[in-house]
Amino acid sequence: AGTGAAPRLWTVTRTAQRVTAEDRPDLGQAGLRGLVRVLSYEHPELRPAVLDIDPRTPLADVAAELSSCSDEQDEVAHRDGTRHLARLRNAPLDEGEHRTRTVDRVRDRVALHLARPGDLDSFEFVAQSRRRPGPGEVEVRVDATSVNFINVLQAMGVYQRFGVGENREDISAFDGAGVVTAVGEGVQGVREGDRVAAMFVDGTRSAVMASFAEVRADCLLPVPDGTSIEDAAALPCAYLTAWYSLRHLARIRPGEKVLIHSASGGTGLAALHLARACGAEVWATAGSEDKRAFLRGLGVEHVMDSRTLDFADQVRELTRGRGVDVVLNSLTGPAQSAGLELLAHRGRFIELGKRDIYANTRLGLLAFRQNVTFAGVDVLMMMRQDPELLAEGYRDLAGMLAGGTLPPLPVTVRPVGEASAAFHTMASARHTGKLVLRWPAEGTDTLPVRPQDVPVVRPDASYLVTGGLGGLGLLVARWLAERGAAAVVLTSRSAPDPAARAALDALTADFGTRVEVVSADLAVPGTADALVRTAEATGHALRGVVHAAAVVEDATVANLTPGLVEKVWRPKATGAWLLHLALDGRELDWWVTFSSAASLLGNPGQGAYAAANAWLDEFTSWRRAQGLPATCVNWGPWAEVGRGTGMAERGYAMIAPAEGVAALERLLAHDRDRTAYTPLDMARWLESYPETARTAFFTALAGPAAGAETGGARNALLDSLRETDCPQRRQDILQPQVVEHLAAVLRLGTDRIDADTSLVSLGLDSLMAIVLRNRLQRELGLEIPTMVMWTHPTASALTRYLLTRLDLDGEQEAGPDGEQDGTRTGERTPVTT
Ligand SMILES: NC(=O)c1ccc[n+]([C@@H]2O[C@H](COP(=O)([O-])OP(=O)(O)OC[C@H]3O[C@@H](n4cnc5c(N)ncnc54)[C@H](OP(=O)(O)O)[C@@H]3O)[C@@H](O)[C@H]2O)c1
Repeated sequence: AGTGAAPRLWTVTRTAQRVTAEDRPDLGQAGLRGLVRVLSYEHPELRPAVLDIDPRTPLADVAAELSSCSDEQDEVAHRDGTRHLARLRNAPLDEGEHRTRTVDRVRDRVALHLARPGDLDSFEFVAQSRRRPGPGEVEVRVDATSVNFINVLQAMGVYQRFGVGENREDISAFDGAGVVTAVGEGVQGVREGDRVAAMFVDGTRSAVMASFAEVRADCLLPVPDGTSIEDAAALPCAYLTAWYSLRHLARIRPGEKVLIHSASGGTGLAALHLARACGAEVWATAGSEDKRAFLRGLGVEHVMDSRTLDFADQVRELTRGRGVDVVLNSLTGPAQSAGLELLAHRGRFIELGKRDIYANTRLGLLAFRQNVTFAGVDVLMMMRQDPELLAEGYRDLAGMLAGGTLPPLPVTVRPVGEASAAFHTMASARHTGKLVLRWPAEGTDTLPVRPQDVPVVRPDASYLVTGGLGGLGLLVARWLAERGAAAVVLTSRSAPDPAARAALDALTADFGTRVEVVSADLAVPGTADALVRTAEATGHALRGVVHAAAVVEDATVANLTPGLVEKVWRPKATGAWLLHLALDGRELDWWVTFSSAASLLGNPGQGAYAAANAWLDEFTSWRRAQGLPATCVNWGPWAEVGRGTGMAERGYAMIAPAEGVAALERLLAHDRDRTAYTPLDMARWLESYPETARTAFFTALAGPAAGAETGGARNALLDSLRETDCPQRRQDILQPQVVEHLAAVLRLGTDRIDADTSLVSLGLDSLMAIVLRNRLQRELGLEIPTMVMWTHPTASALTRYLLTRLDLDGEQEAGPDGEQDGTRTGERTPVTT
């Protein structure tokens, strides 16, 4: 006012939107925002804007806002004296947006998982679902687990890189002991309550370890009376490896000489005991004097150093050149060849290591002139490929353990919460015997559920789809059936036509899903209750609601009539409200509302529709504020099915049905309240609406590479490096970060690390080098070969190397995978305010 410009149209609301986490939107005003968005296209000359205040906002602040707010700001809120400005931005789903579940440690499966693969300091517990044991399987409540080297390799991301074309990503394999909690079909000889130990292998659920797990009933060690669960947890993998290596492959005989490398670890000790039980004579190596003393204490006469090659001459000398009958090898490089050369006539070389095998290391064949045998061992692969053979091992070992022929292994027990320390100890080979982790016997915890572990659709549940006979409703019903829903209840006012009927019958025929149709108006009191009753009458608890009922009728705001608004409003808003009341007290996993991009972005001619959807958007926040499940998706136009198909002809980019359903499933697996999913090319869209394009609300999305907001923390370091072009200054910035990572890996204080001391003399070994590499890769978004730790062997040299790799002076920084950030306008990305 007073500037000569036409007056601006302000809509002032009070807590109509959720702006801060504490807000509970006033639903009476919630639709207005959508209407104003539409007005901004239809009447740009009014520069329509919304001011949403809270009950404490002084009138003076309102007056100041209305009189001085610039035209670029069209959505302003005041909360507790703070001014908030709404912005649209790309918001890809983030790992942090996970669901949570309260678990009872006695009943529920908890898994130990690495939040950041490769980082041994990122262990966290996550909730997973228990699985009924299949035929021939039992389920075990795992009270103690033990750490095997394979777990360390897996956690460090090294194991996953072994392999030729095999996918090793998602294998969970761990040792554990506990009590049988369920017995699958056809299992004999094992009962609930039995104490057992086993190596659990699960190719479907990635986790480092878990508190419940299933296993073949014939691949178990009964835990002898008098053996503790912690001792039992240490046995399976170590003894099974020893059994397969020495009994099955090497077929050791009494009196034979067996050289066991690194004999003080779990597998080494198991091999030592088994070899002795078979009457063989054990020769051993170990990497430190303490460990050698420990082995001598066990009565091993010849104990040598595994860190040098001297053992070869020593063995030759002591055996007067004959050598040994069996070498159980875990050493790499020259030590491997030295061991092979030590074999006597008809000797057997049993390779436990993976590195040389997967590196395809060359081995001279001359050693084989003596009828010797070389055998590789991968017990995990055996477990998957040839479990019958391992079952034989389990039986053999069970007898020896029960009879006292094989002793338990020395264990160090820690609570499972200290997994990180245990893994570091194992990675740096500072332990003797086995490291055992004890799981809590009781208690409850609220834990994250990883999206891939969320059972979005449960096989024992029923689901409700309002607007179920519409284009998207039928599609969603099919998705629910495909995912195994027990029952789906659909509602629309009209009865299914023959095509819809055929589609629904197919759901029962193809997937066994019970389908019920209730033909009634959701906005009429009583319909929602009937729907809930129908769902519950299927005998399956109602666990999810898709609210997709809609009537779409367009008119410009100037032409809106109460009748039209009412028509559009009833299915969307009144229907949602009545359904909310009807569901009072029901425990849903999710409630998803199909809203429209129209309420978020606005769309000329859709004032009533945008208002009804804006109401749904806030209704989602309103439900959540009360702790009720609610998710809202502001969809862009869908291709092939539903109301929006015509928009393809008008040049709109469309959501393909399979893509949309996959997006829906992903959103429901996360814990996101409101998301727009739309392929809209914002820059093109705004070209047609120059006034709208000028508003700050859209600016973040309007540019060609807008919304690139990921990786902010990482970029802070890179930004500070870019701020200078002085090489020394850059070194000064990066080196302390490198030292910090090094200190974390070595478990030393940063003050104990001199940047010019060699990494090896600081204690870095090859596994730690991988951990360090992983940490630096993540921090800097670079691919770094592990070799670099040896070619640039001090913190300062490493820093210099990293600075050469970072493209600090280039125009634009490449993302970690070499691409620019993928969150661009025009791609199908989730958008939120
Ligand atoms: N398709 C898209 O591109 C798109 C884009 C953005 C958002 N959406 C949203 O997604 C949802 C589904 O869209 P669609 O394309 O599948 O629409 P649709 O084909 O028109 O389906 C809407 C369904 O709602 C039913 N319905 C309307 N009023 C009802 C009432 N009072 N009680 C019970 N049922 C009622 C309709 O059946 P009767 O008329 O027989 O009652 C129809 O089965 C809608 O909420 C829509 O706003 C869709």
